[in-house]
Amino acid sequence: MHFQLTEEHLMIQKAARDFAQNELKPGVIERDEHQKFPAEQIKKLGELGFLGMMVDPKYGGSGLDAISYVLVMEELSKVDASASVVVSVNNSLVCYGLEQYGTEEQKQKYLVPLAKGEVIGAFCLSEPEAGSDATSQHTTAIDMGDHYLLNGTKNWITNGNSASTYLVIAQTDAAKGHKGINAFIVEKGMPGFTVGPKENKLGIRGSDTHSLMFTDVKVPKENRIGEDGFGFKFAMKTLEGGRIGIASQALGIASGAFELAVQYSKERKSFGKPISEHQAIQFKLADMATQIEAARMLCLKAAWLKDQHQPYAQASAMAKLFASEVAMKTTVEAVQVHGGYGYVKEYHVERLMRDAKITQIYEGTSEIQRIVIGREVLK
Ligand code: CAA
Ligand code: FAD
Repeated sequence: MHFQLTEEHLMIQKAARDFAQNELKPGVIERDEHQKFPAEQIKKLGELGFLGMMVDPKYGGSGLDAISYVLVMEELSKVDASASVVVSVNNSLVCYGLEQYGTEEQKQKYLVPLAKGEVIGAFCLSEPEAGSDATSQHTTAIDMGDHYLLNGTKNWITNGNSASTYLVIAQTDAAKGHKGINAFIVEKGMPGFTVGPKENKLGIRGSDTHSLMFTDVKVPKENRIGEDGFGFKFAMKTLEGGRIGIASQALGIASGAFELAVQYSKERKSFGKPISEHQAIQFKLADMATQIEAARMLCLKAAWLKDQHQPYAQASAMAKLFASEVAMKTTVEAVQVHGGYGYVKEYHVERLMRDAKITQIYEGTSEIQRIVIGREVLK
């Protein structure tokens, strides 16, 4: 066992850190305030190969490992979690899902432009009445021979408006329960597909979250992913890796807030000395550092297991559960370390605190991660 990153890992980490500082930091407060999608920045991330990081180069990807993915997600999320969620969804839900389970034709047609970052994708499982209880899908896809007829509404879809390719989960045979669920590739612009208004959110305000409506959308049969009835397992398998992305996002939000708190504590003086010299502040920083390091280890362990082709469902759920709770605690404490200045936008920590909350909700709430972990440990 060794705890050292390779030269390649360090280079990728540095590239992501530089990108975050030079390209994401300018304008991040304004994008948050005005709920502006970081379109230019995402385009550049695509050109640099960050949107198809783990995809085989023969499909336009960068062919990197999951450890690199964790490092990149942490660095980007330190600065802009609205941009990093786009990176997470595109890489670990959409590209991974297509590369792992798509046909060669689907990969050529859809995966290649997604991996090159020419377009971005969305993953559409949640519905107005089916979030945690993901098997109770109300969206239906009726088999019409050469196509399926898709009807229903998806809720809270990240990249809802900016995506071009949507992986949509729907019920094809209610009598079969979760075995009657399928996943489909749906293109923006297919007749009957409309995008609802942008949600006005607490955090990750730059990311575009929309509901999607499908009314008699004709989805060609060749756009079904996998065997008939594979859709629920497709969603679950894909989310195993997605949770590594969100865990690393939470880790980045926490470590970004921590770095700001350390810096500020050395600059701000009270009672004649920097506040970092007050033990109460040092103890906060010590707790933050310890929890962040533990979260980082869980993220890297889950990624390592994935890279080794070993089971990682439990590890990714643990990483997401723990890192998201660390993100919440750390950002609240980082605001506290900043005092009144932490409560205003220029100092960044209030945004990180608002952004942290979503990591306990999406890609399975903390309660759902405990269910996944509980079932694994009792197996
Ligand atoms: N791999 C393979 N198969 C799996 C699986 C996995 N990880 N997890 C479950 N399954 C299979 C089960 O084996 C079972 O199949 P069999 O009957 O053939 O054995 C089938 O799926 C149904 O599983 P369960 O009985 O465990 O289903 P459940 O109704 O109890 O729910 C759950 C399980 C874990 C709670 C699941 O519903 C879940 O993960 N809910 C959370 C949904 C979620 O994470 N949504 C995220 C949306 S995407 C998103 O949020 C993106 C973003 O924000 C950026
Ligand atoms: P519910 O499932 O109604 O849960 C409400 C509360 O009850 C939660 O605290 C939950 O943990 C708890 N609960 C529910 N069931 C249980 C149980 N069995 N035991 C214990 N507690 C339970 N979805 C997508 O498909 N694609 C996306 O791109 C996407 N992006 C998102 C972006 C944002 C900003 C948001 C807010 C959500 C996004 N989601 C997306 C949806 C997200 O995955 C769901 O919100 C999440 O899975 C929870 O579902 P819900 O909101 O319906 O809550």
